[in-house]
Amino acid sequence: MCGIVGYVGRAEATPILLDGIRRLEYRGYDSAGIATLEEGVISIRKEVGRIDKLVEAVARNPIGGTTGICHTRWATHGKVTRENAHPHQDRSGKLALVHNGVIENYASLRAMMEGEGHRFLSQTDTEVLAHLIGRAFDRSAVRTREVLVDAVREALTKVTGTYGIAVIHSEFPGLIIGARRGSPLVLGIGKGEYFLASDVSAIVAHTRDVVYLNDYEIALITAEGFTLSTVQGEGAASHVTKVEMTEEDTGKGGYPHHMLKEIHEQARTVADAMRGRLSHEEATAKLGGLNMSNAELRAVERIVLSGCGTAFHAAMVGEYLIEHLAQIPTECEYASELRYRNLPMTKDTLVFVLSQSGETADTLAAMRESRRKGHRTLGICNNVASTIARESDGGVYMHAGPEIGVAATKSFTSQVTILVLIALLLGRIRNLSSAAGGRIIEELEALPSLIEQVLKLEPVIERVAKRHAHAKVMLFLGRQYNYPVALEGALKLKEISYIAASGHPSAELKHGVIALVNPETPSVFIAPHDTLFSKNLSNIEEVKARGGPIIAIGTEGRSEELAKLCDDLILIPDAPEILTPILTSIVLQFFAYHIAVELGCDVDKPRNLAKSVTVE
Ligand code: AGP
Repeated sequence: MCGIVGYVGRAEATPILLDGIRRLEYRGYDSAGIATLEEGVISIRKEVGRIDKLVEAVARNPIGGTTGICHTRWATHGKVTRENAHPHQDRSGKLALVHNGVIENYASLRAMMEGEGHRFLSQTDTEVLAHLIGRAFDRSAVRTREVLVDAVREALTKVTGTYGIAVIHSEFPGLIIGARRGSPLVLGIGKGEYFLASDVSAIVAHTRDVVYLNDYEIALITAEGFTLSTVQGEGAASHVTKVEMTEEDTGKGGYPHHMLKEIHEQARTVADAMRGRLSHEEATAKLGGLNMSNAELRAVERIVLSGCGTAFHAAMVGEYLIEHLAQIPTECEYASELRYRNLPMTKDTLVFVLSQSGETADTLAAMRESRRKGHRTLGICNNVASTIARESDGGVYMHAGPEIGVAATKSFTSQVTILVLIALLLGRIRNLSSAAGGRIIEELEALPSLIEQVLKLEPVIERVAKRHAHAKVMLFLGRQYNYPVALEGALKLKEISYIAASGHPSAELKHGVIALVNPETPSVFIAPHDTLFSKNLSNIEEVKARGGPIIAIGTEGRSEELAKLCDDLILIPDAPEILTPILTSIVLQFFAYHIAVELGCDVDKPRNLAKSVTVE
């Protein structure tokens, strides 16, 4: 969950590195640091706090050189202090290293080296790795770049855990060494200059020709070129990819926050999730990326959906969708649970893992565990070259464009849209009639314009949000397809406004939750006019009877009873029940956003969080 950038070329490294690390700030932002090499001397600047603090420190005390590395941190080991900020150095002070990941056996390695007289300045696992590499290199009388790469190899074979690293050494100007296992690392190919980064958004302003490193690969990078090898010392082929993303994709597009821009993109991103995947002729969805024939899909007897956070909530909607449209037993499980649970899965179980970033450690591990047991495992990802996308047996890309705001928004509605397509496809090769399939396709094609109507509700939602922005506790309640939306709405609110929000099935109120109801605790009911509308009404009555403020999401023209009971009512356009989660979730995205803004919270970079959780 940290961000790394490296540069080697003819230009001054510092401005390129600082601009690049800013574009990765969503990956972690509790401290930042930079190291450059000039005339045989490595200069380092580190600051606690946002990257602006580092930029100010460098402005006060500039550093030069055309080789450098930079890092923004989300603390895993060690407090948020300047000493624990990266880059870290080895015992000699000639090597500097930045790292994304967790070295699990760092304590034993540290103790071993302390026994040899090493002194550590920080509490981090990263500094241990820097010393381990320097220790291996300094044992050799021969001091060549090949020996340095071998020292990196030797150190990496000694560590357990995950890493994405960039290393420079004062004896080797114009050289960066990169290596990865479990944390993403991409090499950017410029003209007479090369880049290394945790993800392409840091370097897309300079090049769109990139090489994605695979696990256990090491890159030796100079201004003249690069070579790839493996930790085991074998050669490795490099595949140059042209990045689809453009620099403006990573900007705010005139919006005050990435999150607001990404909320407003959803009519387009939902349309993009369906583009080229609807067949009127066959009244079904076409998903070639599943790499499965209809016969293989028909043989599937059980489906497991897995993910973390928002992706898990989308998976929960998928469970209802697939059981409703295809009648296949389906269950969803948190990836962090699935990876350790000995879930009985027979050979005809199909697993889907959902992940916007495609790098979430728990989801990646759940996928690898499922594949290890021989189950076909498909990914629903946004990041095309992500580890999950590359290691899974196939899947469906979200095509939502980069999602920079830490709070997931368009990724949720894209994932749910794709799950509708999957459920449609599975249903149509089983018992779903062509008439029913055709109707769903028409409803899907009308969906972007319904989303546009919901996006126009922002001013109404903003007013409701401001009225309730100072609540300390908030309950979100829904049923069936909108129960996962209750969980998602609560997650949105808590992660950017820090309000203690929780989501529940509406009927669970009387099983304990209603004890929390009081005049200061608003209850948000997601109550579109669906099959259980009257049941939701009863739950609302229960809350009203106890004096709890009620905010409801209802359906235009079909919510007279709701209007009598609620303090605030937001009406979405009438929509098929299976598609309401896409519309109701957008309302709750706006709701959370405007409360966070009202409270002065940092919407795009909320405290303690990072966009991509690449550590356990
Ligand atoms: C949601 O708003 C959070 N950003 C977080 O729960 C996120 O959904 C989760 O970490 C999964 O991320 P992924 O989709 O990239 O795997």
